[in-house]
Amino acid sequence: MTAIVEIRGLSKVYASGTAALSDVNLDIREGEILALLGPNGAGKTTLISIVCGLVTPSSGRVSVGGHDIVRDYRAARALIGLVPQEVSVEPFAPVWTTVSFSRGLFGRPRDDAHLEKVLRALALWDKRHARNNELSGGMKRRVLIAKALAHEPRVLFLDEPTAGVDVSLRREMWDVVRQLRDSGVTIILTTHYLEEAEQMADRIGVIDKGRLLLVEEKAKLMREFGRKRLTVELVAPLAALPESLAARGLAVSEDGTRVTYDYDTRAERTGIAHLLAAFAAEGIAVRDLSTRQSSLEEVFLRLVEENA
Ligand SMILES: Nc1ncnc2c1ncn2[C@@H]1O[C@H](COP(=O)(O)OP(=O)(O)OP(=O)(O)O)[C@@H](O)[C@H]1O
Ligand SMILES: [Mg+2]
Repeated sequence: MTAIVEIRGLSKVYASGTAALSDVNLDIREGEILALLGPNGAGKTTLISIVCGLVTPSSGRVSVGGHDIVRDYRAARALIGLVPQEVSVEPFAPVWTTVSFSRGLFGRPRDDAHLEKVLRALALWDKRHARNNELSGGMKRRVLIAKALAHEPRVLFLDEPTAGVDVSLRREMWDVVRQLRDSGVTIILTTHYLEEAEQMADRIGVIDKGRLLLVEEKAKLMREFGRKRLTVELVAPLAALPESLAARGLAVSEDGTRVTYDYDTRAERTGIAHLLAAFAAEGIAVRDLSTRQSSLEEVFLRLVEENA
C-alpha cells in the first residue's frame, strides 16, 4: 500500500523550550484509519498541526500526496481536511454559510450537492439555516467535521473528534468516519477513548513525550501485547487458596466461587495446563472456564509504563 503522508525525522521544539516531538518517522497508508493515542501533552496535536501547516517543524520533513508541506504548501494543504481539537466556529454564521465558505477557501467551485451530502451524513441538514451559536456542543463539533469535508480532502485529521460528544452520537460519528474511509478518505484521529481506537482503527500509533513508541496493526498489537485472563468458576466456594496454588499469582473472588489467573499470551508456556492439574490434585471441582483478552486500554497503559 502506498503512503499518502510521509513523515521523516520530525522534531519540534517550541519557543518556550518544550520539546514536543522528537525524531518522528511515520508513513500513513492511503485509505487507512490510523488512531494516535497518547497521554495529555504527548505531542499529538503538535504532529497534526505540523502536517496541516499550522506549526513549523524544527527539523525533519513531511509530504502529503507527494507534496512537501513547506515547499509545496498549497498543493499539500488542498488534500487535507482538519477537525481541530478546539471547537472554533464563527458564532453568528449559519451552518450552510460556514461550510460553503470553507469550500471556497480552498478555491473549489461551488457544489451544493456535495455540501448537502456532507450535512446529511452528519445529521446537520435540518440545522443548515441555524446559526452556529444556536447549536449544541456536539452539533458544533459536527459542523467542524462538515467544514473539514467541504473541499473533498483525501486525508482527514480528526483531533479528538468525539470529546464531549454523548455515547449514542459518538457511535453515529464512528459510522460517518467509517463511511468516509470506505469512500477512500484516509483518516488520522486522536482520541482519549480507547474504545474508540479499538472500534475504529486499522492501525494504532502510540505517542508519549514526543516520541512515537510504536505503530502497529490493531489486531497484532492486541495479540502481541495483550494479556489474557482465565476465569475458573468453581462448583463449591473456596475459603482460601490451598498452599500448592498460593504462589501462582491467582486471585480469588470475595465469595470464593471464582479464581482468576492473568497470563502473557507471548509466553511459551501459559501455565494453564499446570494450573488445572493442580486444581484437580487438590480436589477442587471446576464448573466452567472462560478467557478474556485484555482491552486496548490495558495494552496502552502497559506500553506507556514500560517506556516510562
Ligand atoms: N503553542 C505552544 N507553545 C509552547 N508549547 C506548546 C504549544 N503547544 C503545545 N505545547 C507543548 O507541547 C507539548 C505537546 O502538546 P500537544 O498539544 O501536542 O499534546 P497532545 O498530545 O495533543 O495533548 P492532549 O491530549 O492534551 O491534547 C506539551 O508539553 C505542550 O505544553
Ligand atoms: Mg491535543
